Amino acid sequence: MVGGAALRGEVAVAGAKNSALKLMAVALLATGRSRLTNVPAILDVTIMAELLRRLGCTVDYDAAAGVVEIDVPHDIGHRADYDLVRALRASISVLGPLVARCGAADVAVPGGDAIGSRGLDLHAAGLEALGATVHVTHGFLVAEAPEGLHGAEIRLEFPSVGATENVLTAAVLAHGRTRLENAAREPEIVDIAQMLTEMGARITGAGTSVIEVEGVRALTPVEHAVVPDRIAAGTWAFAAAATRGDVEVVGGVAEHLSAALELVKASGAEVTVTDRGFRVDSGGRRPKAVDVATLPYPGFPTDLQPFAITCNAFFVNEATVTENLFEARFRTVQELNRLGAETRIDGHHVMVHGVERLSGAPVEASDIRAGAALVIAGLVADGVTTVSGAQHIDRGYAGFAESLRGLGADVSREPDEDFFL
Ligand code: EPZ
Repeated sequence: MVGGAALRGEVAVAGAKNSALKLMAVALLATGRSRLTNVPAILDVTIMAELLRRLGCTVDYDAAAGVVEIDVPHDIGHRADYDLVRALRASISVLGPLVARCGAADVAVPGGDAIGSRGLDLHAAGLEALGATVHVTHGFLVAEAPEGLHGAEIRLEFPSVGATENVLTAAVLAHGRTRLENAAREPEIVDIAQMLTEMGARITGAGTSVIEVEGVRALTPVEHAVVPDRIAAGTWAFAAAATRGDVEVVGGVAEHLSAALELVKASGAEVTVTDRGFRVDSGGRRPKAVDVATLPYPGFPTDLQPFAITCNAFFVNEATVTENLFEARFRTVQELNRLGAETRIDGHHVMVHGVERLSGAPVEASDIRAGAALVIAGLVADGVTTVSGAQHIDRGYAGFAESLRGLGADVSREPDEDFFL
């Protein structure tokens, strides 16, 4: 890609990857045909569809229409194999539904994105509190509850998104009442709770730190639209500010992005809520660098941290970015340095001194967000930047290059070599 263009125009965001994948697992909880709409056109949905097929479901995925239909038989399998789980860490979200439906789940222990160590201890502790026995054997996390699950009082040590989901999706069919404290509060959790409620589950408090569930005997299939992707929407907000552009993010929900949009505002851009989403207008100015620390929702999302570092690399002044959720999630930094960024890593902090102009070079994407952030860096760098490993970007952003071109960027995608030129 050749840097220089200010992004202008409108861009649409689809449903959230990190909700759609979990909602597909939620469908396992009811015999019959569930239908999801506003599903993003990404490889991860194809992998999750295959996982569900191996459990005995019939899954139709129309990526162009954004629709997934899942037909769940009465008797389903309870094993998620390593070849799929290693390709898709979100596969772990079948754990709760499988223990609840089958009284057993064998889920391969995931590898996942290269963004630091991520345990499953909170998932296991939550299911144990609900009456399952959990152990790891031959690379599988095995959870068993032959007599069924029972409600419990559970306090998560940390508001883990994945652990909250697995406790919630197991508790809906447990006998009695569950109270989950220090639950994650992400909009994707609210989306899952909404679909479960439509299916007949009895849940209160989703979106707050205390979720209460009254178990029911059975759930019924439904049709549900996936919540818009706040991380994709946030990506466009940073892209607009970074390129000194003016972009309307259609389908973006500003209230799901308060912390990130506050930062974009503090950098000097104007953010307005529109009928269709929100708009970020930089006024053509070079923004100011802003300190940021990632936190669980509603704090600044770790998934947008690479964009904050990237923007600060060429905004006015210097700022510190602190990562509180994951270890080693600073892989963007060494690549940004190849583009001329001035950074210093100190433990969980990165000090970034904004330079006037980045300078185009070949760089490598290590995960979804780092990859998209490097593309934004390339948009403001002098000359040509190539981002290799672009297949990582495809995992989170359908048609990223096309969307960028629609906003005026000089970007192309090399299909065979998987990089931008
Ligand atoms: C979800 O991961 C997202 N993934 C991640 O997005 C996102 O970065 C993360 O939430 C935080 O917002 C999906 O939804 C598929 P966590 P998850 O459990 O559920 C520790 C992307 O780019 N922890 O809240 O795995 C863990 O090590 C991806 O789309 C335990 O210690 O996140 C980590 O430090 C990347 N023990 C922290 O909690 C546990 O049992 C946050 O993890 C569970 C988690």
